[in-house]
Amino acid sequence: MALHKHFFSLTLTIFIASLFLPSSPSFNVFAHPAKIEFSDNDLVEFPLNLEFLEAEFFLFGALGYGLDAIDPKLAQGGPPPSGGKLAKLDALTKDVIEQFGYQEVGHLRAILGQVKGFPRPLLNLSSESFAGIMDSAFGKPLNPPFDPYANSINYLLASYAIPYVGLTGYVGAARLLKSENAKQLVAGLLGVESGQDAVIRTLLYEHKDEVVQPYKVSVAEFTNRISMLRDKLGKTGMKDEGLVVAKDVGAEGNITGNILAGDKYSVAYPRQPQEVLRIVYGTGDERVPGGFHPKGGDGRIAKSFLNEGKLYN
Ligand SMILES: *[C@@H]1O[C@H](CO)[C@@H](O)[C@H](O)[C@H]1NC(C)=O
Ligand SMILES: *[C@@H]1O[C@H](CO)[C@@H](O)[C@H](O)[C@H]1NC(C)=O
Repeated sequence: MALHKHFFSLTLTIFIASLFLPSSPSFNVFAHPAKIEFSDNDLVEFPLNLEFLEAEFFLFGALGYGLDAIDPKLAQGGPPPSGGKLAKLDALTKDVIEQFGYQEVGHLRAILGQVKGFPRPLLNLSSESFAGIMDSAFGKPLNPPFDPYANSINYLLASYAIPYVGLTGYVGAARLLKSENAKQLVAGLLGVESGQDAVIRTLLYEHKDEVVQPYKVSVAEFTNRISMLRDKLGKTGMKDEGLVVAKDVGAEGNITGNILAGDKYSVAYPRQPQEVLRIVYGTGDERVPGGFHPKGGDGRIAKSFLNEGKLYN
């Protein structure tokens, strides 16, 4: 009898415990709030977080002013970016970056032509913000701190850190989109975004063996470190590659020069919105803002993760 009673209470305990085990759907609701379905609208507005960042960084770098001087209504009342400034660029780099800046303004118009969007989030474009990324990439503070605005090579290395994230985000969005309009727009944005990445990589590739002053580290090694940092923050394996790689990582597993990143068939890697946010926040956590977005991104996707963070922090 006592045994039977014990057995019964044990069974009850297991039954109750099972309600809280990770395999139980009722538990998952609390551990990982129900996976939110994102609409085409959400997926098309999400990249504004990156397009604002790129527009401001390129415009400030080439011209010394940003979107507010070009078309303030595009910012939809968002706060001005912090710390962007005119970079010391040679004539070719300035010319290219100015073109990128205006291309990004076009991208903002294209997205805002299809969705309502949201105000420009607070952006941190300060030298310190980029210096922090480079310190993380090298796992120690660079001395002196990396200054993205000091010269063309530094500016291109800083730029290496940005459009590629947008590129992988657009590739990742492709399979989630339903409407023809959204697919067409994202394919079009992807085309130009990957073009920008290719131009940045080509300009850097010309200098791949040069040393980035005064760090005694080559341009190629900088790109390698930035790519490894992004992989680490994204937390989903290798989706990023520097300008010079091990032979088996290069195209057809047979070449070390790596002017474009791609998988073993040289097909671009996809990243989901969570991965993109982990990288641009620099925190490795889509729920914890930081980096280029001190207050986090905006729009339904970024906000849903930020709200999860509030629930748990
Ligand atoms: C920008 O980043 C730097 C370095 O992390 C930080 O010191 C500064 O407070 C940040 N600015 C804003 C507006 O968040
Ligand atoms: C690898 O490249 C070399 C030339 O650099 C070529 O001779 C060889 O056939 C290539 N191997 C494969 C498997 O493509």
